[in-house]
Amino acid sequence: MHHKSLLLIQHNLREYCIGSQVPCISQATQEYLAVFLTKHKPMRCLEIGSACGYSLLTTALLVEPRGGTVCGCERAYPNRVILSHNTALVRQYGLTNYNCVFGQFLQLPITSRGNEPYDFIFVDAQKAEYPLYITHLVENKLIHENTKIIFDDVIKYQDRMTDLTQTLEQYGFKHELKQLENDDGILIVYQ
Ligand SMILES: C[S@@+](CC[C@H](N)C(=O)[O-])C[C@H]1O[C@@H](n2cnc3c(N)ncnc32)[C@H](O)[C@@H]1O
Repeated sequence: MHHKSLLLIQHNLREYCIGSQVPCISQATQEYLAVFLTKHKPMRCLEIGSACGYSLLTTALLVEPRGGTVCGCERAYPNRVILSHNTALVRQYGLTNYNCVFGQFLQLPITSRGNEPYDFIFVDAQKAEYPLYITHLVENKLIHENTKIIFDDVIKYQDRMTDLTQTLEQYGFKHELKQLENDDGILIVYQ
């Protein structure tokens, strides 16, 4: 694997996102992800809301040394085109542990994501749908008793996800809010 080239692609992708006003995870979330994934060592990862693939590539690089894989999900055009382009590009440099399915997460056939639960799920999609993702993940058995879930941007957009903690408590999930920046943070969810 050409690690230096992959890091350069990752760097350029962040620059592209900033320049084109495509959302991508903050530096603080990225740093926290690195610590979290190194600690918990998930093998099967899922990302809901991949945009152009910055956090997907970041996660793929972090879990690759242990043989981990990531499946991303993105519904919007033209983000999907850039995401496909980057996925093909990084494959040329030896990073083959991630793929992306295109469409609205709640409507994708389960078989397209593989029919096994995930060890780690990063949620960075439509904020108002966060509670629906929980129900969908539980009802479709996409999580097991040790699955860890991280919801991004839960402080900045807390007004859009009023039902999230209520839904989590309904399913008996524990949750921990981590403020990573002045105005934003993540919610870590586990059973
Ligand atoms: C904040 S951006 C994701 C940024 C990305 N995680 C990163 O850091 O590179 C949110 C993305 O989620 C996508 N999205 C929102 N709701 C979705 C859904 N229900 N299914 C799939 N994608 C969704 C949007 O199109 C948008 O591109």
